[in-house]
Amino acid sequence: MNRPALEGLRLNVPAYVKHTRLVEWVAEIAALTEAAEVYWCDGSEAEAQRLIDQLVAAGTLMKLNEARRPGSYLARSDPADVARVEDRTYICTERQEDAGPTNNWVAPAEMRARLQTGDQALFRGAMRGRTMYVVPFSMGPLGSHISHIGVELTDSPYVAVSMRVMTHMGRGALEVLGDNGTFVPCVHTVGAPLVDSQGRGQPDVPWPCNKTKYIVHYPATREIWSYGSGYGGNALLGKKCFALRIASTMGREQGWLAEHMLILGVTSPEGRKFHVAAAFPSACGKTNFSMLVPPAGFEGWKVTTIGDDIAWIKPHADGRLYAINPEAGYFGVAPGTNDHTNPNCMDSLKSNVIFTNVALTDDGDVWWEGMTDEPPAHLIDWQGRDWTPAIAKANPEANGKPRFAAHPNARFTVAATMNPVLDPQWDDPEGVPIDAFIFGGRRSTTVPLVTEARSWAEGVYMAATMGSETTAAQAGAQGIVRRDPFAMLPFAGYNMSDYFQHWLDLGARLEGAGAKLPRIYCVNWFRKGADGKFAWPGYGENMRVLDWIVGRVEGRAGGAENVFGTSPRFEDLCWQGMSFSPEQFASVIGIDRAAWHEELKLHDELFKQLAHRLPAQLPATKALIEQRLAV
Ligand code: OXD
Ligand code: MN
Repeated sequence: MNRPALEGLRLNVPAYVKHTRLVEWVAEIAALTEAAEVYWCDGSEAEAQRLIDQLVAAGTLMKLNEARRPGSYLARSDPADVARVEDRTYICTERQEDAGPTNNWVAPAEMRARLQTGDQALFRGAMRGRTMYVVPFSMGPLGSHISHIGVELTDSPYVAVSMRVMTHMGRGALEVLGDNGTFVPCVHTVGAPLVDSQGRGQPDVPWPCNKTKYIVHYPATREIWSYGSGYGGNALLGKKCFALRIASTMGREQGWLAEHMLILGVTSPEGRKFHVAAAFPSACGKTNFSMLVPPAGFEGWKVTTIGDDIAWIKPHADGRLYAINPEAGYFGVAPGTNDHTNPNCMDSLKSNVIFTNVALTDDGDVWWEGMTDEPPAHLIDWQGRDWTPAIAKANPEANGKPRFAAHPNARFTVAATMNPVLDPQWDDPEGVPIDAFIFGGRRSTTVPLVTEARSWAEGVYMAATMGSETTAAQAGAQGIVRRDPFAMLPFAGYNMSDYFQHWLDLGARLEGAGAKLPRIYCVNWFRKGADGKFAWPGYGENMRVLDWIVGRVEGRAGGAENVFGTSPRFEDLCWQGMSFSPEQFASVIGIDRAAWHEELKLHDELFKQLAHRLPAQLPATKALIEQRLAV
């Protein structure tokens, strides 16, 4: 490597870095963004503490009370930078049809002109006055044949510190890369240079960002470019951008799956262990389900977490599908989390956490809506303002609720190793064999508590037509039912119809080779009664559904067929330790034929939108449901 030639650029390349292409790319981006300095992250504890101290000095992080929340910090974002920006997220393929009708699309050359090559390109000079951090990371256990390496260049030390929690970050990832390995290049800037083009400086702010935002993917070259946001999935590029959008395109080419799924282990008192991967849209309780505490009646059962958000699933030589969690930490929604909804999560958050946009208590700890029944008498809210119940009532939010103390999409960032029910195999490079897939939306009506697909194709149909009411995880209106196929609507890196075909093809290929495919289930924890209240208690009680699923896999649980698949009868679920009447059960499991006629019209609308390249098996499956509905 010609190190002297690079010296003028102050690249500060550590001696252990041997990857010429990586260094050249770092030089190219440093030149484009005019970063003042380049710093290579080694991922060490000492480095993390240095960056955290720097963030505290800059006012981005505030140290929480060491006695109450050791090693933990609070960040408050800019109020205009609080969630993923789906309307600013682009899949840039040469042909628009390859991105499909559910993704925003701009041709690569046009997007490169806007971001990189044009006179006014946004990345030109975007890091002026800032340090560019080189953040090498492995998605998945270091060296696993299922894992992949990425390198994020970012001008946000908050991102660098968070990437250390969320991924296997640092020197180890570079060692895996060697001198010639393949990596996904990820470029991120908050879009707030500290020096203008005339050389005039300006002071920094605690949460720099830009009103203009772009979250851009080039699947053909497997590149990610993110501009203007420092928040979550917009900025921690290993997560949604790489592990879902780019990885889904890699999986399609290479015959595997990158999915928006938690992975859990469930072990019976006799020690029989099963693995389940479950897809739910954002903020529908994935973290809760992955850390479920078995309720009364399930003594001796254990649920353990492999992952809470993303699964990479690959067929093995034995014909089964094995999954890894490509992440190393949890970036979870804090509001609603408490000792009842998710005690294991509350335990995970006792120390070494970065909280973002939660409220601050008077004794230097954190609070969010739903953490306790009664809010504290006084807080500092997520925007740094005084908050009391009276102030909250006098200043309602747009939805009429009292002013939030914590933003509804407030998050915690914590290492998986803090989880008391972490599965011993969570980091196994081989992954775990999947016995069942679960798909669930947030639906107050229509969709039953649980239904088993009669075939792989019927399961793909269930997943493809999933609907869900929107939540605070995405910017924009909430509570609107939108179709969210496979919970992947904002995360599929290519045409959704091709994505359905990929699932169908993979199933057919494995089945053709004699493999036993995982069974597929559709669940809905969120049905409401006529009184507007949730009809199913959810949380730990979801174990009853999990037990039925495991019982089906084992061939011990009964059920009855309906138009949509097979659901349990009252007597097929274990009710030990819970009082729930057959009438109550009917209200969560029943199929309302009129509602299903309406539902199928909505499936039609989805299929019309996705008509180009839609696999014929999907409308054919719908026709069978219609026939059953007509009887
Ligand atoms: C997430 C999301 O942050 O789905 O996991 O929005
Ligand atoms: Mn998610």
